[in-house]
Amino acid sequence: MASRESQASKSYRPKGKSKYIQSQIQFTSATGASKVTKCTKCEMTYARDSVEDIASHHQYHDMHLRGRKWQAGWGHPVSIPNGIPSPPSSSSSLSHARKNSNLANSKIVFIRPNHAGEINATLDIMQIVNDELSAPQDENGFWSGINQTTLQGKAFVYVKNNRAAGVITVEVLEPGRGRWMVYRDKSIVQSVKPNFILGISRIWVCRSERAQGIATKLLEAARLHTITDNPIEKHYMAWSQPSESGGRLALRYNSMKHASGETLIPCYL
Ligand SMILES: CC(C)(COP(=O)(O)OP(=O)(O)OC[C@H]1O[C@@H](n2cnc3c(N)ncnc32)[C@H](O)[C@@H]1OP(=O)(O)O)[C@@H](O)C(=O)NCCC(=O)NCCS
Ligand SMILES: [Zn+2]
Repeated sequence: MASRESQASKSYRPKGKSKYIQSQIQFTSATGASKVTKCTKCEMTYARDSVEDIASHHQYHDMHLRGRKWQAGWGHPVSIPNGIPSPPSSSSSLSHARKNSNLANSKIVFIRPNHAGEINATLDIMQIVNDELSAPQDENGFWSGINQTTLQGKAFVYVKNNRAAGVITVEVLEPGRGRWMVYRDKSIVQSVKPNFILGISRIWVCRSERAQGIATKLLEAARLHTITDNPIEKHYMAWSQPSESGGRLALRYNSMKHASGETLIPCYL
């Protein structure tokens, strides 16, 4: 049962369909064999003989791999400079130069509070993101204004070929939340509490568009456009419990080499 539970926790649960997991577990054939299957591409588990589950999988699969369909008027476009600098130690600066020039059919937009259409579309994406990260679904107030009167952050979406291919949500941090994380063993340095400015709450790129520099561009958009007219230094941007791939992105984007020889990632609690 344990493995079923962990599979179920990865399942996409469309709004208002909270009994979905139970229905999955109930599907067994006459011989008792489970008819629940796991898609190898999007990793969703679903019942192969449920019309509702098949439709849910179809929708999740498409969003997870290709992003969400995005209307032309949603979001306010923001610009980022073309050449995103790579750390001097990088061995792949050539590939980055190629990535930076590849902006055709793409734009980055900022999600405006009080614009229900773009907020709801972004919430659809956040559901996929949180599901992949096993992260809480209720941390959207700071960028959307939902159930919150003051905004403490922003969401930016990367739009490519009329699809939202990636998203970043960032929050302005109060003092005291910053920490350094040792990249090697993911331990937190307890003795120092650096004051970082911006917390990266979520960052995600749909599966078919990864490894093309999109997350890096979203980081740059957040760095340059969250606090209007006041670009933030990369090293004041902190990560929240980075995933495996998030840790590698952080390593590349804004890690620091400490005098001890350890590589440190800016994080926040
Ligand atoms: C992490 C994630 C956002 C990266 O998106 P991306 O658009 O592929 O990232 P980029 O192309 O901008 O990567 C920039 C650099 O980060 C590093 N990097 C990013 N993802 C990596 C991965 N999976 N493995 C190794 N290195 C990676 C690389 O150095 C890369 O540069 P290079 O390709 O020139 O070597 C994406 O993999 C994702 O959505 N993962 C699932 C959600 C998640 O884990 N989010 C992070 C939460 S903290
Ligand atoms: Zn799938």
